[in-house]
Amino acid sequence: MHTLLVANAKGGSGKTTLATHAAGFFASRRQRVALQDEDPQRSASSWLARRPPLFPKIETLKPGTGRREAKEQEFNWRIIDSPAGLHGERLRDLVKQADNLLVPLSPSAFDMEATQTFLDAVTEYKAVREQKLAVALVAMRVDARTRSAQELDEFLYGFEFPLIAHLRETQVYVHCARDGLTLFDLPPSRGKQDWEQWLPITKWLK
Ligand SMILES: Nc1ncnc2c1ncn2[C@@H]1O[C@H](COP(=O)(O)OP(=O)(O)OP(=O)(O)O)[C@@H](O)[C@H]1O
Ligand SMILES: [Mg+2]
Repeated sequence: MHTLLVANAKGGSGKTTLATHAAGFFASRRQRVALQDEDPQRSASSWLARRPPLFPKIETLKPGTGRREAKEQEFNWRIIDSPAGLHGERLRDLVKQADNLLVPLSPSAFDMEATQTFLDAVTEYKAVREQKLAVALVAMRVDARTRSAQELDEFLYGFEFPLIAHLRETQVYVHCARDGLTLFDLPPSRGKQDWEQWLPITKWLK
């Protein structure tokens, strides 16, 4: 079982979008996936409750489930969505349980500042210092060829964590959130352009 933690203390940065999509991707590849919603807002859980029954199955793990307990259920992937404001002991504990940490951020000054503080905290953790988990960033709502993307690249220069993908701003994500779906549940005519932007993420996770 691999554990992916999706986290950034900044609210609205795209955590639930990344977590639900990672779950949808592995489910579409016939992997056994569990989504563990650690956010009291329950966005990932309500998304899953809206998921139509005929789409690839995503199971759930109760908030607070530990690594050992999750392992007994023989999932291939355990994906943890985390709340805004995550810090301190709770963050340390979730980081300790993860194999991969994905950090979404948008190219706005507010997001960049908050993400810097978050990454500074993450860098201090033993598991990260000892490279026991892989950490990567995903730029949300940005086209790789724009000035905003360039500014984000400049901001991240000097950080030790790679920026592995840019996901463009599109209503497709908003519709998927509403319908309990992911890009990977859509026909090629609606999903293909965005599947390509996900390739570096799925490759990094594998
Ligand atoms: N690439 C995108 N294009 C358009 N809309 C997006 C994109 N990514 C995310 N969104 C939308 O932005 C909003 C915030 O995203 P999301 O809920 O994933 O953030 P979050 O970090 O989980 O927020 P919170 O901190 O409140 O849990 C949602 O309405 C989502 O549908
Ligand atoms: Mg969320």
